Amino acid sequence: MKFFEKQKEGACCEPGCCGAVETQAQTESLKESQTESETEIESERLKAQVREKYASIAVQAETSCCGGGGGCGMAEVTTFSEEYSGMDGYVADADLHLGCGVPTDLARLRAGDAVVDLGSGAGNDAFVARALVGEAGRVIGVDMTPQMVAKARANNRKMGYANVEFRLGEIEHVPVESGSADVVLSNCVLNLVPDKDRAFAEMFRILKPGGHFSVSDIVLSAPLPDFARKAAELYTGCVSGAQEKSGYLETARRAGFQGIRVDREREINLPDSLLEENLTPDQRAEFRASGVKILSINLFGERPAFPETRK
Ligand SMILES: C[S@@+](CC[C@H](N)C(=O)[O-])C[C@H]1O[C@@H](n2cnc3c(N)ncnc32)[C@H](O)[C@@H]1O
Repeated sequence: MKFFEKQKEGACCEPGCCGAVETQAQTESLKESQTESETEIESERLKAQVREKYASIAVQAETSCCGGGGGCGMAEVTTFSEEYSGMDGYVADADLHLGCGVPTDLARLRAGDAVVDLGSGAGNDAFVARALVGEAGRVIGVDMTPQMVAKARANNRKMGYANVEFRLGEIEHVPVESGSADVVLSNCVLNLVPDKDRAFAEMFRILKPGGHFSVSDIVLSAPLPDFARKAAELYTGCVSGAQEKSGYLETARRAGFQGIRVDREREINLPDSLLEENLTPDQRAEFRASGVKILSINLFGERPAFPETRK
């Protein structure tokens, strides 16, 4: 499919991509004991859960005056989204407070760029990107949750932008032509994708040689003990699938990206009250002694212009 070719409303990128499918950490631990097809089934089950959550956030946002909220795992306590209002291109109905950074800030977007936003939700970053690339640029948002895509399309209709489009599809099979994007964005989504190798490989595929990505996400400084993972998920909503930072960067390298750097990083501290409510005294002591940090980062990387050296 050509980059700018319109996808039919509700259409799927390819057979199976919109079918049924929690997260990488859980998937990884299962991988060793599973066959390939069992891993695939587990991955599809986890994605089905994610889709269900975001469908309900999108629908809630339709009926509530307060937006979706809840971060990537629909946490009930706190969200880590940044303040977008006041930015050029900001569309309030597209801001469901689901992000964990501002990937457009560090994306070096230029007028006329072709941009793809992976896991575009209701369109928040896509509309900000559109303001930066202007009339001559193009923005495609891709999301696997039909209700999110419907919301993003409705927002776009209200804005009347001819150079913004939202496609239903999965990051594992991005419905965008190879080598067609100048910049790939994503905000708090890759932690939800079970197969991160595949996600980075798809980012590489759709970028033009010399193109780059800017991705905001949640990562860990070291493995989080299972008991702490549950409490952290209650707080941030984005931790259950979060990978270790070093592994995350290595995944991007394996896909062939160069110039990889973390250009923004902030620690998310779990409040004592949350730990007290959810962990035993021994677990709290173990967690504190572990020194594991939950980090919100922005990662930047480039697809080499030439030659392409995949590891
Ligand atoms: C935490 S929300 C972030 C939405 C948007 N980036 C924002 O900041 O408002 C995650 C979004 O990614 C989508 N998503 C999760 N896994 C996906 C996948 N494998 N392929 C495509 N979309 C996915 C979900 O449907 C949801 O809309």
